[in-house]
Amino acid sequence: MANLTRDLFIGLSNNKLLNTNAKKWGFRLGAEKFVAGTNIESVIEVVKELNSKGISATLDNLGEFVADKSEAGMAKDEIIQLLETIHNENLDCHVSVKLTQLGLDIERDFCIENMKEILDRAYEYDIFINIDMEKYLHYEKTLDVLHILRKQYTNVGTVIQSYLYRAEEDLEKLKDVRIRLVKGAYKESEDVAYQSKEEIDRNFIVMAKDRLLGDTFTSIATHDHNIINELKQFIEENQISKDKFEFQMLYGFRTEMHDGLAEEGYNFCTYIPFGNDWFGYFMRRLAERPQNMNLVLKDTFYT
Ligand code: FDA
Repeated sequence: MANLTRDLFIGLSNNKLLNTNAKKWGFRLGAEKFVAGTNIESVIEVVKELNSKGISATLDNLGEFVADKSEAGMAKDEIIQLLETIHNENLDCHVSVKLTQLGLDIERDFCIENMKEILDRAYEYDIFINIDMEKYLHYEKTLDVLHILRKQYTNVGTVIQSYLYRAEEDLEKLKDVRIRLVKGAYKESEDVAYQSKEEIDRNFIVMAKDRLLGDTFTSIATHDHNIINELKQFIEENQISKDKFEFQMLYGFRTEMHDGLAEEGYNFCTYIPFGNDWFGYFMRRLAERPQNMNLVLKDTFYT
């Protein structure tokens, strides 16, 4: 049953027509619980509020199903505008991008040029750019683009998904790159990915511990309190400096834990999605945790 529900929401997230129409609807179905606003102005206040509590942020200007170069160019311009706002407002904040949003499926070199424009400006403002990891279909291409960009830029990193069999091997090759470690949000076949929670969790913990013992900064991105507690104990036992890592969670999820970890003195970063293109992101969150639907329904109907 859980798998069926997950497949249903993942299927909806991949539906281009629904994604396109949702942009015209404005927030519906309680999406505002997990998406901070539709424009830059609306998220600035959210970031300022977090910063005042010692929490940093990473902003994701949502965009899915980018079909041509002009759409990808617009996405790039919006991200550059976002960098300017972060700089002008002096926010403790970096930016997460998706390469498909910047034209990866249209033409790889065009996507690289867009990324270079973004990274030049980000470097000028001392802002880190994280490349989110998408479906496995884009995995090789994403690592390939990262590899090319890393020859010229140090302010760029990516995400490794612990559900992939090859994750540990790839992580080893990315020893010098700032990485966000996640479990993985898409439906992948058993040819490439673990299917059971136990295996995905075990791989996550092994890789997180390995990174914590290394020298490069790691973002440990999970809402899983069992994993966080195990890692906190490991960090203490091995006297690992808190400067070497941060915990990350998504906006709207387990907010009490964001504040709690920050109060305990851990670096904490909230991933904040915003923009009109909320549908696919929102459906993937429901796929991960159908109970989120209960929260949404409760907020919609009982408040
Ligand atoms: P998981 O869903 O495995 O839940 C584990 C346990 O934690 C649950 O059984 C429950 O006990 C508890 N729990 C979880 N959520 C809860 C809640 N809301 N309330 C109460 N209890 C809860 N994926 C990807 O493929 N590419 C990417 O680039 C990213 N980027 C990214 C950034 C950040 C900051 C995060 C946190 C996540 C991502 N992801 C992602 C998504 C990620 O791959 C994964 O799908 C989700 O984080 C869900 O896995 P978790 O480890 O959070 O908990």
